[in-house]
Amino acid sequence: MNKAMDHKQLATILQWYDMSGVDVIVADQPTDWFEISKRPSAPTLIARQATNSRPQTASPAAPARVAKIAPKIARADHSLAAPKTELAVLEASELSAKASTIAELQAALEQFDGCSLKNMAKKTCFADGNPRSSLMLIGEAPGRDEDLAGLPFVGRDGQLLDKMLQAAKLDRPTDVWITNTVFWRPPGNRTPTQAETDICRPFLERQIELIKPKVIVALGGTAAKTLLRTKSGIMRLRGKWVKLEINGQAYQLLPTLHPSHLWRTPAAKKLAWQDLLMIKEKLREKKN
Ligand code: URA
Repeated sequence: MNKAMDHKQLATILQWYDMSGVDVIVADQPTDWFEISKRPSAPTLIARQATNSRPQTASPAAPARVAKIAPKIARADHSLAAPKTELAVLEASELSAKASTIAELQAALEQFDGCSLKNMAKKTCFADGNPRSSLMLIGEAPGRDEDLAGLPFVGRDGQLLDKMLQAAKLDRPTDVWITNTVFWRPPGNRTPTQAETDICRPFLERQIELIKPKVIVALGGTAAKTLLRTKSGIMRLRGKWVKLEINGQAYQLLPTLHPSHLWRTPAAKKLAWQDLLMIKEKLREKKN
């Protein structure tokens, strides 16, 4: 194989990765996580040793103690992620609750290291638009362009969203406040996990409390499911007003289709337009 061929093949492979959404390098060497997950973990080994072996030490109390606690550690080992997530949610709640302005909330989010998405992201994408607007749009997660710009909805999906807003005579810089369910780009544009949305949620809810929008629009299934804590799909949820309650305060929320869905399925633009008209009507009602 000559060098020119090598380069051509490498370029083809990189192109294929890029098209598949793999556009970050997280380590120099690949890791076979399937293989690693088959190996017994340290706490499991301790538990096995503690229950299988006879006490070898002079003090019988120590192995007895290990035998007692090791099964608990082994059980906890399967849910190690859970306490970590809970701690991060707690920290996010405490930090966000202290913020009494949008600027303070953004500063608190920039400081927060509890969401692992931040480790691979280039920038934190907090929000964009007019903090005094009546309409708040909530998308899924920053993509590649948003990660570079540090602003939500600036890429292809954002351009489509801007066009739709313009068609409905809504001006993005003055009429809307836009954010996402998570504030850092998930690698390869994958859907954020439940743990990631749970961790970011206190910052999102505090944003809602501080913006006090008259109307909230959940763009796509992830935003709708996260905000409404439901497993229902977006096709079932879209186009129907629902009440979202945060700390005793009620907000009107309309789930609608995500712009990325409209790129893939242009025929669905008709439904998105119907939803947009409902939003306009609700804004008109709330104004009077
Ligand atoms: N898609 C989203 O959900 N949010 C963005 O910010 C960009 C694309």
